[in-house]
Amino acid sequence: MKFLFPVFARFLSCMSRPAAGYSILFIVCALCLLPVPASSAGMPASGEDAHAPLGPDVIIPVPARYEISGDGVFDMDGCRTFHMKISGPAAYDSRDIAVSDLVSELLSLPYSLSGTDAASKADILINVGGRRHSKTMLSGQDESYRLSVSPDRIRIDAPGFSGAFYAIQSLVQMARNGKVRCCVIEDTPRFVYRGLHFDVSRHFRSKEFLMKQMDAMALLKLNRMHLHLTDGAGWRIETESWPRLTEFAAWRPYRRWTDWWASDRHYCEASAPGAYGGFYTKDDIRDIVAYARKKHIEVIPEIEMPGHSEEVLAAYPELSCTGEQYGGSDLCPGKEETFRFLEDVLSEVIVLFPSEYVHIGGDEASKQHWKTCPDCQRRMEEEGLADVDELQSYLIHRIEVFLNSKGKKIIGWDEILQGGLAPNATVMSWRGTEGGIESLKSGHDVVMVPNGWCYLDYTQDAPFKEPVSIGGYVPLEKTYSYEPVPEGLTEDETSHLLGIQGNLWTEYVTEDSHAEYMYYPRAFAIAETGWSDAADKDYGDFRRRALEMSEMFAGMGYNTFDLANEYGERKESLAPVSHLASGCKVTYVMPYSSQYPAAGDATLTDGVLGGWTYGDRKWQGFLSDADAVVDLGELKQIHYAGASFMQQASAWVYLPEKVEILVSDDGQVYRSAGIVWRDMPDSVDGLYFKTYGLVLNETCRYVRFRAERSSKAGAWLFTDELIIN
Ligand code: ACM
Ligand code: ZN
Repeated sequence: MKFLFPVFARFLSCMSRPAAGYSILFIVCALCLLPVPASSAGMPASGEDAHAPLGPDVIIPVPARYEISGDGVFDMDGCRTFHMKISGPAAYDSRDIAVSDLVSELLSLPYSLSGTDAASKADILINVGGRRHSKTMLSGQDESYRLSVSPDRIRIDAPGFSGAFYAIQSLVQMARNGKVRCCVIEDTPRFVYRGLHFDVSRHFRSKEFLMKQMDAMALLKLNRMHLHLTDGAGWRIETESWPRLTEFAAWRPYRRWTDWWASDRHYCEASAPGAYGGFYTKDDIRDIVAYARKKHIEVIPEIEMPGHSEEVLAAYPELSCTGEQYGGSDLCPGKEETFRFLEDVLSEVIVLFPSEYVHIGGDEASKQHWKTCPDCQRRMEEEGLADVDELQSYLIHRIEVFLNSKGKKIIGWDEILQGGLAPNATVMSWRGTEGGIESLKSGHDVVMVPNGWCYLDYTQDAPFKEPVSIGGYVPLEKTYSYEPVPEGLTEDETSHLLGIQGNLWTEYVTEDSHAEYMYYPRAFAIAETGWSDAADKDYGDFRRRALEMSEMFAGMGYNTFDLANEYGERKESLAPVSHLASGCKVTYVMPYSSQYPAAGDATLTDGVLGGWTYGDRKWQGFLSDADAVVDLGELKQIHYAGASFMQQASAWVYLPEKVEILVSDDGQVYRSAGIVWRDMPDSVDGLYFKTYGLVLNETCRYVRFRAERSSKAGAWLFTDELIIN
């Protein structure tokens, strides 16, 4: 289907300030933009009317309660009137702003609408803050709404403006050719925090891009935009107190992050020929924040500290431990100058962003130089800090005190737990859910973003058909399957779980269109998990709606992943294989990594082959050579022995240089049966699997596989099964 992209009409009417319980008259006609008829995919099967109005069963996220009421239809086309009634506390609560935003949202719809002061004559009646709310609605916050559609009237009841706004979003999703099926919806969110993350450091994105994504977020009832404004790839916000951040640290001589990464990773002057990068001016940020408010989205700025700060240290080397320009990535917490820097920057940031939170990063600091830096050592001694983790915690605590004193809360990646969590901090749990669980248990607020489900930079389909990515495999179904509430916690503990977020890191995502491709449709899954009750979730039904929604998004000009032609998981991994060594004991001469144990000692003979990612708990990882012995239990004749390995250079996963296969009768004396060599370079991008197998004619009880790890620094080896026949 094709919709013309909504034009955002400005609110033109003058507004009076009547007392509580007032009505508002708007007589503004919007442009009459009629949606173009729908086309094929995601639409009703043949025999059904492709132009038929849609009911609430297309909405994402799925509403808490909905029913279709009869066969009737409300027709939005023609000159329709609306009336808004604002009463109760809502009438006092930022009413001018909220009302005008709601009206401009209505007028941005591709229908000709006008305001009327006669509630009884209005075709669309919006009642904000009234008492006609069901129990379901009252249990929620002001994002709840009740929407009833009958042939002659649409009625929206909501305790607050956000609820009324979301009712309009549900209407937009249902309308086809200006028609909406008659229905009743009562809806309320499960979580208060439903976010998407934007890494604008690796690649700067225009404010128009962010606004376009806010339109999509609003449609999906997502309400937090996390802006990752600073990182080693570039500083992205005007900062008058430290101007070299945008004169220099916002620019690099390479467009592709991978080219820059492979070079000396230096920055360049903004004026240098070919300088790539950019930053948001303060006016840009004001525009972004103003637009977000209209879309009921809070923009949360992230200023990274103390790690991921290469760009800061390139501009101001005096903030590092060594004073060298390209000497590391961590700020020096021993120096007072570092705190002066952070407080200056944050002071400029907080006046721009009205958000409750400032994200202070906190992830992946190496802390290496802190161990020998005289300033850091002195700080540790003076403050009685036992180790560098406590030194990091000192920095985060101090920044929390500063931000709390300015009325802001801090949120940080789960590494801020190291060395002791700052007392009021909220934790964003990305390295799995453990950090989040620990924080919930200690009474801290948590947003869950575990990478295995919520990292949208991971490949969403078979890597052979996808753009090069950082690795992983997180298809739509995996993202959708995530249940944020951990098992085994008390109600009080889980009450601190604020919600979830989808993260898109953009090292490999240069183009805006590629970013959209990574967000949609997986952001649909984040939205539904964040909003809808777990009991109302069903992947089959969601996928049907996601196909419909992808089609709608494509019609609105978004570049979405082609869900209809999803290939899916690596076929080899779908059904177990049986072979001579199935279930046999494996003895490890070299241990596997505790980070990637898969099924532990059983992994290599359990018949389970790995999927597209080394992180799927089917591949076993080694940060050394892999050397393991299979005991067949008795002497057996064997004709084949082989093991598969994977390579994904972008994730430091490499094929072994060679695999030697040895056999033995007694487990003491081995004879080599042969060596299989690597036959492709270790530098190529992409995902590769290679079986190192030998055809044999041996009688033996023990078969030993010795895989020699690549000589690349930090190389991983991953294997899934030792197959013997
Ligand atoms: C992260 O992905 N380093 C938060
Ligand atoms: Zn230091």
